[in-house]
Amino acid sequence: MSGAAPSASADLDETTVTEAAVASFRDTPDPRLRACLSILVRHLHAAVREMEPTLDEWEAAVDFLTATGQKCDDTRQEFVLLSDVLGISSLVENINHRKSPGATEATVLGPFHVTESPQRALGDSIDEVGKAEPCLVTGRVVSADGTALLGASVDVWQADDEGYYDVQRPDVLPPGNGRGLFTTDDDGRFRFTTVVPSYYPIPTDGPVGRLLLATNRHPYRPAHIHFIATANGHVPVTTHIFVAGSPYLGSDAVFAVKSSLIREFHRVEDPDTAAEHGLPTPYAHADIELVLEPFQGEVSG
Ligand code: BEZ
Ligand code: FE
Repeated sequence: MSGAAPSASADLDETTVTEAAVASFRDTPDPRLRACLSILVRHLHAAVREMEPTLDEWEAAVDFLTATGQKCDDTRQEFVLLSDVLGISSLVENINHRKSPGATEATVLGPFHVTESPQRALGDSIDEVGKAEPCLVTGRVVSADGTALLGASVDVWQADDEGYYDVQRPDVLPPGNGRGLFTTDDDGRFRFTTVVPSYYPIPTDGPVGRLLLATNRHPYRPAHIHFIATANGHVPVTTHIFVAGSPYLGSDAVFAVKSSLIREFHRVEDPDTAAEHGLPTPYAHADIELVLEPFQGEVSG
């Protein structure tokens, strides 16, 4: 028989409602869904028992979640932002990284991977504005044993030198600014030019911003460039490189900094080196190796 557990219709009280709610999911066909719902219900009930919210407080909590949902649209993901500022996105990344210990560390996706990056050729610029000092980013995608991963896809997105993603300033920034989808060459290498991103505040004009304000927290993230690297037979990695020396490396609003991901953005003044890359002097240069773990039980490639 399916439906609510028999105990759900009994005279339930503070001490018995939790197990009744857990039991109501006992006919869930998917065992993982059943297990996760049981854990969630038990922990949520424990939190409520500990907090003993008033009815007004509970209504405020529901209003907050409602406002969070209402703030979401095609280019705004307030629930991801909420998960980020609570440290949950980072926790999920860290748990999953345990399964790929040899790989580049993963970090949060964030809410700005909302449009498809334009496919670009190796060496192209992802900066479509051309106002700021250029920055060359070079990199290589390799398997955990160091083998080059040719034909890997490298999706890149970043804020500009003033701290804005294209979707945040559609009147000023062309769509696709700061974004690019690259395919690695025979040696697993990729390269593109851009601008050194600035640190920036996460969006504060919604419920998550109000939460930060009410708790005296700053909204800033240290300067970074996002990457998702994907290759056949390998676990994809979603990560960043952080700009060494950026403000907020020690207090990222979304708890996503890992020291293994901090890179120097060296200033290059030598005109011959600049000419090799078709760049004016001076420019900045950062390099990253993205190491992907093969899927277990599969041959890479
Ligand atoms: C980002 O890096 O794009 C980001 C991550 C989490 C929250 C807000 C922004
Ligand atoms: Fe970002």
